[in-house]
Amino acid sequence: MTKLSTKHLLGIKDLTKDDIELIFSTADNFKEVINRPIKKVPSLRDTTIANLFFENSTRTKISFELAEKRLSADVINFSSSGSSVKKGETLIDTVNNILAMKVDMVVMRHPSPGAAMFLSKHVNSKIINAGDGAHEHPTQALLDAFSIREKLGDVKGKKVAIIGDILHSRVALSNIFCLQKLGAEVMVCGPTTLMPKYINSLGVKTEHDLRKALEWCDVANMLRIQLERQDIRYFPSLREYTMLYGVSKKMLDSLKKQIIIMHPGPINRGIEITSDVADSGQSIILNQVENGVAVRMAILYLLAGRTEE
Ligand code: CP
Repeated sequence: MTKLSTKHLLGIKDLTKDDIELIFSTADNFKEVINRPIKKVPSLRDTTIANLFFENSTRTKISFELAEKRLSADVINFSSSGSSVKKGETLIDTVNNILAMKVDMVVMRHPSPGAAMFLSKHVNSKIINAGDGAHEHPTQALLDAFSIREKLGDVKGKKVAIIGDILHSRVALSNIFCLQKLGAEVMVCGPTTLMPKYINSLGVKTEHDLRKALEWCDVANMLRIQLERQDIRYFPSLREYTMLYGVSKKMLDSLKKQIIIMHPGPINRGIEITSDVADSGQSIILNQVENGVAVRMAILYLLAGRTEE
């Protein structure tokens, strides 16, 4: 297989296992490229890509921009703060005005679930979802699974626990879809109030005891408490949350096996994980960030090359 089955990357739900494996094998090649002294290839020369960020980002925004520049694309960056969105311009008008300037692909982060899907139906451009509310964050899930494959040799058969604020996390949903398509076993762990009501329909194990989750898994993907998306109190205090769901080095060292620690970032040090866990030899957090560039290069390259039927 040499091309993706989709025109856009809206969510992992739309990808096949073959799509994911094609992205990974392409990312393997780009990872080799970005470790060379000359890190740039001409693959997307004369392709213009707009990065539209309607919500804050550090990693995803920089990673996409770097991936685009490594592929020799022309890049424009837009953030809603300081734009005419503040004067009442709609999403479709904003994007169509940008596309009128001959843009080929759009990478978009937006606070509303379904925003990328909505855009794909109304504008004539390839759309990549860089996170839509609490719905999906497909490129994060792909770089996470790529990093597990790199560290453990394969994703199939591995036990991955996703721990923390599952309810508000787009990373959790995309990771569940991606890991299951690749044959991993997935557990979610956190307080009952931070589990979505539909969680049992996703075919994952659920656990509320952190120690049991850590004893079960090969990989723990630690999620941030997303206070900015919480409109009510889901637990008494951050201190209490940390006592029950925060991972410390002492706890990791007391387990019978060495597990891998992941985190999509941004980390709240001292809440979901302590600094000595984040910076330990078991953590692959910065490997995830490094792999994000190669994985995003692969996605941009494959979508750009997908000619319309
Ligand atoms: N992991 C992630 O999406 O980080 P940013 O919000 O900084 O892009």
